[in-house]
Amino acid sequence: MAFKERVFSGVQPTGNLHLGNYLGALVKFVALQEKYDCIYCIVDLHAITVWQDPAELPKATREVAAAFIACGIDAKRHIVFNQSQVAEHAELAWIFNCVARLGWLNRMTQFKEKAGKDRENASVGLYAYPSLMAADILVYRATHVPVGEDQKQHLELSRDIAQKFNNDFGPSIRAHGYGEAFFPLPEPLIQGPATRVMSLRDGAKKMSKSDASDQSRINLTDAADAIAHKIRRAKTDPDPLPGEEAGLASRPEADNLVGIYAALAGRAKWEVLKEFGGAQFSSFKAALVDLAVAKLGPINAEMKRLMADPVHIDSVLAQGAERAQVIAAETMKAVKDIVGLVHR
Ligand code: TRP
Repeated sequence: MAFKERVFSGVQPTGNLHLGNYLGALVKFVALQEKYDCIYCIVDLHAITVWQDPAELPKATREVAAAFIACGIDAKRHIVFNQSQVAEHAELAWIFNCVARLGWLNRMTQFKEKAGKDRENASVGLYAYPSLMAADILVYRATHVPVGEDQKQHLELSRDIAQKFNNDFGPSIRAHGYGEAFFPLPEPLIQGPATRVMSLRDGAKKMSKSDASDQSRINLTDAADAIAHKIRRAKTDPDPLPGEEAGLASRPEADNLVGIYAALAGRAKWEVLKEFGGAQFSSFKAALVDLAVAKLGPINAEMKRLMADPVHIDSVLAQGAERAQVIAAETMKAVKDIVGLVHR
């Protein structure tokens, strides 16, 4: 059975959106708008699976919204909203909690990582996180989900939940005239390895919002001078740039900076090396500063402008939530029919 193609993805409002998020997710989100109907969600209910300061969370939510818009997501043609405004996410997540098996959730590597050694003290929400993620996607019966490599396992779980729901309730789905299968099996749109952005202080570590050193990342809230400063101070090795990609093999910092240049320029690494092969880092970094400031400067300025008017951001989110809810409510009605829950 063919489902209408639709993209859904979520970003957590947990602060410090950085170059890695931009190149790894936001640029992809923007590009997908041309081909699909897209729903981009700020997943605040996922954020609170670990403690969030109530005084900071609204700002973090608005900041992701501002970043979406500043990067070029069209909130009129597509849908941008925060998860907690559409209660159907949590409602469907409960149904999915009753479909997913303990054994499935026990295998989730992200829970193990996030819960760490003190597992007994992790929230139940952190454990059930993947059910909510499945609900996010499937409440819109989305078919394509742009995610990073680290979310692949969660997406597989979403497919397993959709599949089990379709099987367990198969007769009821058909009896109610909802076709052969009610939920699509959502497919990941995984980013290529080329856009994995590493720390500016350590080429072996991913650029991360939680790195103690702010010098390790370029935040989307960094103005031009901060961007320039961080790139000039980025770790390198003493050798000039190689002329070919193979020459980057055991040089993680060089590889990272060339990768960032390539991604920002929309070119391949070998093309960048053709131009800069033999150059010293001082001159390559100067070119990278110019490029990064040219690309990120306007986004930073637009984010600042948007953040100065939270009333406007909130109205964008409210309108997005309203439109999202129309779709989500329709799904929930059908799900209630299918499961046998009496409803209005
Ligand atoms: N778990 C995702 C992350 O941390 C965020 C997320 C929540 C998401 N719900 C989603 C991503 C649905 C894609 C689709 O990156």
